[in-house]
Amino acid sequence: MSEIIVQNGLFHLRNGRMSYFFRLTGDGLPAHVYWGERLERLDSPLDRLFFESRESDYCHNTLELEKLPQEYPTWGHGDLRRGALEVTAADGSTAVDLCCEGYSITAEKPTLAGLPATFDREGGSRTLSVAYADAVTGLRVTLLYTVFDDCDVIARSARVENAGPRAVSLERVMSASVDLIDDRWELITLSGAWARERMIDRRPLKPGFQGVDSARGASSAQNNPFMALVRPGTDEFRGEAYGFALMYSGNFTALAEVGMYRMTRAQIGLNDAHFRWLLEPGETFTAPEALLAWSNTGLNGMSAQYHTLVRRHVVRGRYAQAQRPFLLNNWEATTFNFDEEKILQIARRGREAGLEMFVLDDGWFGHRDDDHSSLGDWTVNLKKLPHGMNGLADRIHWMGLKFGLWFEPEMVSPDSELYRAHPDWCLHQPDRTRTEGRWQLTLDMSRADVCEYVENAVAAILDSAAIDYVKWDMNRDMSPVGSALLPPERQAETAHRYMLGLYSVLEHLTARFPNVLFESCASGGNRFDLGMMYYMPQAWCSDNTDAGSRVLIQYGTSLVFPQSTMGAHVSHAPNWQTGRMSPLRTRVDVAMWGTFGYEMDLAELDADQLAETRADIAWVKAHRDLLLYGDSIRLLSPFEGDTAAWMVVAPDRSAAVVTAVRLLAHANERRERLRLAGLAPETRYRVEELDVVLTGQELMRFGLPLRFAPGDDQSLRFTLVAEQGGDSCQ
Ligand code: DGJ
Repeated sequence: MSEIIVQNGLFHLRNGRMSYFFRLTGDGLPAHVYWGERLERLDSPLDRLFFESRESDYCHNTLELEKLPQEYPTWGHGDLRRGALEVTAADGSTAVDLCCEGYSITAEKPTLAGLPATFDREGGSRTLSVAYADAVTGLRVTLLYTVFDDCDVIARSARVENAGPRAVSLERVMSASVDLIDDRWELITLSGAWARERMIDRRPLKPGFQGVDSARGASSAQNNPFMALVRPGTDEFRGEAYGFALMYSGNFTALAEVGMYRMTRAQIGLNDAHFRWLLEPGETFTAPEALLAWSNTGLNGMSAQYHTLVRRHVVRGRYAQAQRPFLLNNWEATTFNFDEEKILQIARRGREAGLEMFVLDDGWFGHRDDDHSSLGDWTVNLKKLPHGMNGLADRIHWMGLKFGLWFEPEMVSPDSELYRAHPDWCLHQPDRTRTEGRWQLTLDMSRADVCEYVENAVAAILDSAAIDYVKWDMNRDMSPVGSALLPPERQAETAHRYMLGLYSVLEHLTARFPNVLFESCASGGNRFDLGMMYYMPQAWCSDNTDAGSRVLIQYGTSLVFPQSTMGAHVSHAPNWQTGRMSPLRTRVDVAMWGTFGYEMDLAELDADQLAETRADIAWVKAHRDLLLYGDSIRLLSPFEGDTAAWMVVAPDRSAAVVTAVRLLAHANERRERLRLAGLAPETRYRVEELDVVLTGQELMRFGLPLRFAPGDDQSLRFTLVAEQGGDSCQ
C-alpha cells in the first residue's frame, strides 16, 4: 500500500518496499533526506541527526546551502550547483528563492496538461503536491510526487505558474532533481545511433557534469531519456540501482553533477539548450513527468519496476494488456517496389505460414517510388493499388488477415503538393537553408493549422478503409528549428510546442480510432520513450533486424521497457544491414523477445525453412501469453561477453522460456552452465528440450547446460513447465 505521511515538516512517501523522504528547512526550502529501502519508523530522529544539528548552516542566503541535499534547487541564493529552475525576470534578474506555502495529498493520480503522464485507475497510488512561491517574481512552483502500490517508482513533475505582474522567461525547468549524499556511483545510459540503439554504457562518476541529452527534436537513438546511478559492483541481481526516466519524446537532459562536497545531484527534464519559455502573468508551464525507480536487487530489480509501471500505468487502450497480432511487414521485402499483386502474394504466404496481420509500409501514396517525394500527400497511388486502400484492405481481410498501414505524418517532401501549397508549414529559420534529412523537411507541429491538417489527413485514410494497425514513422532529426508563426521572443519554444502539438494529435487520433493498434517508429528506434508509449503500446526497436545486433539492442532496451513494447521481427539472411547469415532459429528466438512478426517475403525461404517457419509461428503462438506478458529477466549480458541469455517467467512461476545466444564462437571452449532466476525453488519443472525434470532450486543454483551448435549466432531455447499435480519436490 502506498502512503504519504506528513509530520513536523517531514514528508515521507512509501509503499511496501521503498521510502522517499524530504523535509522543509526552517525557512521553507525542501531538503532531500532519504530514498531507498522502506523505513518503518515514522517518528525517526534520523533526519534531525543529520540536518538539525547544523540547521544554521543551511539558512537561506548563505553559501552553505551548497552542502544541503535539496529537492528542487534554484539559482541565486547560495547554492552554486546547477538549478532545477532557472529564470530571467522582466528586470533581467535571475535569482529565485522558493518557500513552501502548503501541500495536499490525493488518491487520484493527476494528469499533466497537454502531456503524457502515468495514470492509476485503481486507487493504487498516492500523490503529494507541494506548493512553493518566490516572493519577488511571484512565481508559484508546484512539485508533484506520486508513489505507487505496485512498483517502486516515484513519479515527479513540476508546474510553474506566473502569479506575478510581469512576464518571466523560464530558462530551465527540470522535472526532477535529487541530491544523493555521496559520489560513489556509476552512471548507466542507453546510448547509440541509428541501427545500434540503446547500447548499455557504464562509467564511474567523476567530479563535474556527466550525463546524456538530446537536442535532435526526438528523444533520440543517440541517448535514450534515461539514466541509472548504481553502486559499484551492482549487477543484474545484486546491488542498489536508481533509475531516472523521462516521459517525453523530444529534447531532454539527464545529468549527474558531482559538486565540491562530493554529493551527487541527479536531474532529468527538458533540455535547456535552445530552450526558453516566456511565461506571461497568469500562465502555467508544466514540465514532463520523470519516473524515478529504485531497486536493491540489481538492474533486473530496477527493470521489473519500470516494466510494471509501463504495463499498468503507461500504455493505454484496447491493446494495452491484449495479445498483439503477429505481423508481416513488406518493407525489407520490397521497399518502394510493389504493386497490389505483389503485396497480395506476400500476404498470402504470410497467412499460409500462420501470421495474423499484413502491414503495408512506405510507398503507397502520392507518386512515392523512392524516398525523394510525396510525404504530406496522403492520397493513395492508384497506379500501384488500383482498387484503392479499401480494395486492398478488403482483399487482405478476405484472406483472414488484419491489415495495417505505414504513415509518416510529421514530415513533408519538398517535392509534394503540400509543400508547394504551404512552404511555411515546415520548421525553418528565416533566410536559412532548410536542411533536408532523407530528402524531407519536418512539419511545424507547433502550429494548430498544421496539426489539424496532419490529424485530418491520417483520419481520412483510416476512415476510408478497414485498417487495424498504424505504423507511425518519423525519419529525421530537426534542424534548424523555428516556426513562422511564433514571434522572435518565442522561437526557443518551438521544439517543446512541437511535442505538445504532436501529443494532442496523437491523443485525438487514438481516441477516435480506439480499435487501431498504433506502433511508433522513428528511423527504427529514434523515439523509443515513455511519451510515445502513452499513445502507442509498441515501438519498432531498430531498422537493424540482424539477430546478433538485436540481442544487444533488445537487451539494452529491456533495462526500462518490457518486451510487450519492443517491435521485433524475423528478417532475411544475409541481413541487409550487417550482411550476417544468422540461422533462422536464432532470428526467431530473438524476435520472440518482443511483439514478434516477420519483415520479409516468405517466398525467399526454401521448403524446409518454410516448414520450420510454420512450426516456429505455431510454437510462438502457443506460448504467446507467457512471452509477451511474463516477467523478463536478463541472465547474461552481451555487453560483457560473447553469450547473451534472458528468460521470461510466468507471473505465477508455472512456466518459463529461456533463450541463450552465442554471438561469437571460440575454439576449445569450456562447458558453460546457465543459472536461471525467478523460479519457485521447490517446484519441479520439466525442461522440454532436454526431457528432464529439475527443481527450481536446481535450475537456479546448478543451471542448464549451454551446448551450442558450431558457429556464430547460435541460439538455444529451453521451455520450462511446472509439473502438474506435484509442484513440490518434498
Ligand atoms: C524507417 C522505418 O524504421 C522502417 O521500418 C521503414 O518503415 C522505413 N522508415 C520506410 O521509409
